[in-house]
Amino acid sequence: MKVLIVGSGGREHAIAASVAKSPKVDMIYCAPGNAGIGQIAECVDIGAMEFDKLVDFAKEKEIDLTVIGMDDPLVGGVVDKFEEAGLRVFGPRKNAAILEGSKAFSKDLMKKYNIPTAGYENFDSPEEAMKYLETAKMPIVLKADGLALGKGVLICKTREEAMEGVKTLMLDKKFGEAGNTIVVEEFMTGKEVSVLSFVDGKTIKIMTSAQDHKRAKDGDQGLNTGGMGTFSPSPFYTDDVDEFCKKYIYQASVDAMSQEGRPFTGIIFFGLMLTEDGPKVLEYNARFGDPEAQVVLPRMKNDIIDVFEACIDGKLDEIDLEFEDNAAVCVVLASDGYPVSYEKGFEIKGLEQFDGKDGYYVFHAGTKLDDGKIVTNGGRVLGVTAKGDTLKEARANAYEATKLIDFDNKYMRTDIGKEL
Ligand code: AMP
Ligand code: GLY
Repeated sequence: MKVLIVGSGGREHAIAASVAKSPKVDMIYCAPGNAGIGQIAECVDIGAMEFDKLVDFAKEKEIDLTVIGMDDPLVGGVVDKFEEAGLRVFGPRKNAAILEGSKAFSKDLMKKYNIPTAGYENFDSPEEAMKYLETAKMPIVLKADGLALGKGVLICKTREEAMEGVKTLMLDKKFGEAGNTIVVEEFMTGKEVSVLSFVDGKTIKIMTSAQDHKRAKDGDQGLNTGGMGTFSPSPFYTDDVDEFCKKYIYQASVDAMSQEGRPFTGIIFFGLMLTEDGPKVLEYNARFGDPEAQVVLPRMKNDIIDVFEACIDGKLDEIDLEFEDNAAVCVVLASDGYPVSYEKGFEIKGLEQFDGKDGYYVFHAGTKLDDGKIVTNGGRVLGVTAKGDTLKEARANAYEATKLIDFDNKYMRTDIGKEL
């Protein structure tokens, strides 16, 4: 069969690598892809938001299955476009992708269906938000309602910071329309865990757990980024936590969406915080995590095509999802200066040393081909993933492997998966 993947980051490279393992697949296309994806797929010069072109391409090439990796096209309704054209596609429709596309929607959903989450209020007026903040308990969290590349969340320690935050999001519109509405949320503390799941509209199957390191610098200092590294499984995701989430969060979220007339098919990514009062939902995403996918998918035993098809056909209950009994760590190699400003266009050396190296992966995030050479083309450049019998071993393997790769301005955190 022929598969089209939509997206261009490390997540899409990890999806493509899993798809490439399926004996059912003869040809993979990726729009727009990157230099690494280009080694296992044919990259097509169509942007992820160019829905009509994507549909035309899928028709012309007689694509059997399209997999949408990114949040923007999902929230914008790309799945509906493919379905209208009679094409098979994996991902939630627009009316379900709102689970990620609007934080105000997801908070209201959780409240209505008693799914554990932080207390909150939604505001579409800056004056009302500021009035509320005059007496609210600090610290407090402000979130832009819409998509903001994971950066629309402000944690405010003082009332002054919170007032300034309302101005940034709602008046200065730092994240554009995404800040027309904001969620003002109770500040929580605890370990964070990412749990990805496959969903077919009614059945949900949970993947192995993972944890992301979102801050740019060691010791969780510096600015929030898209993610500087991940490990899987999370030792904090215990059997008790799993049992609680199965009882109160996972199926409840899927059922809530179908009761709202928005059946969800695709990936639900639960961002959880393990608080003293039990696990609570920080956020939902409607896609694989990036770089969570880079540690979860290499550990999955199933043929990913079978799982995608079962989701589309509403037969996920027939799938036994299985993961290897080991661990994986992904260290992101970034361009120094990310997430603020950084240079691009430097040649990346050493990639060939990973060819045929079992248990090791280099997922490309921001790379491109330039005159036959692979060069840096983004803030997050590569994700180096290694497996091991234990997290400690996987971590040692991943950091050893980062030494094989070199490019100007290479930057990474040195504490991914430390202190486990
Ligand atoms: P989100 O995009 O909603 O996951 O938020 C991004 C990050 O902000 C999370 O991964 C947390 O580290 C932090 N965060 C979000 N909401 C809260 C909260 N209510 N309390 C404490 N930290 C939070
Ligand atoms: N790594 C967090 C995310 O994909 O949203």
